[in-house]
Amino acid sequence: MVTVKVLFVCLGNICRSPTAHGVFEHMVESSGLADQITTDSAGTAAWHVGNPPDSRSAAAAARRGFDLSHLRARQAQADDFEVFDYILAMDRQNLADLQQLAPSDYKGRLDLFLNFSDLPETEVPDPYYGGEQGFEHVLDLVESASRGLLADIKQHHGVSA
Ligand code: 4NP
Repeated sequence: MVTVKVLFVCLGNICRSPTAHGVFEHMVESSGLADQITTDSAGTAAWHVGNPPDSRSAAAAARRGFDLSHLRARQAQADDFEVFDYILAMDRQNLADLQQLAPSDYKGRLDLFLNFSDLPETEVPDPYYGGEQGFEHVLDLVESASRGLLADIKQHHGVSA
């Protein structure tokens, strides 16, 4: 059986990418695909390594039924390109930082996460220095792109329940 491995990446790995991690993991589990798709997240920066998600992200996710409590921040590393089939950046700076780290022969898909959504936005804005609404907006974008990502994986990797 194939296992498709997905890594979500933002700057700190405490707001956007753990939200994507928790939401996508939940969708994978409720689709009966947990044995075929694995999910992880990381930050391009090391500032928050070992920390749980930001309490505002965790609370906003919990209000929509997504649990982030098991997640801990780590930094993205070159080895990730040997492991993951999809490495998905929240914004263009994250993508540029990952492109610096990527081997030139990386065979997986390194892209902006929101390229899997039909919404007009192309980046998930950093909610860290803003108010509550920013965290809700992150969830709206992440839920949309997660649905598109799951459909893409089913289509391209022969994954089915
Ligand atoms: P994230 O948000 O990249 O979505 O995890 C941030 C978290 C922390 C900081 C910046 C962005 N920070 O400056 O510490």
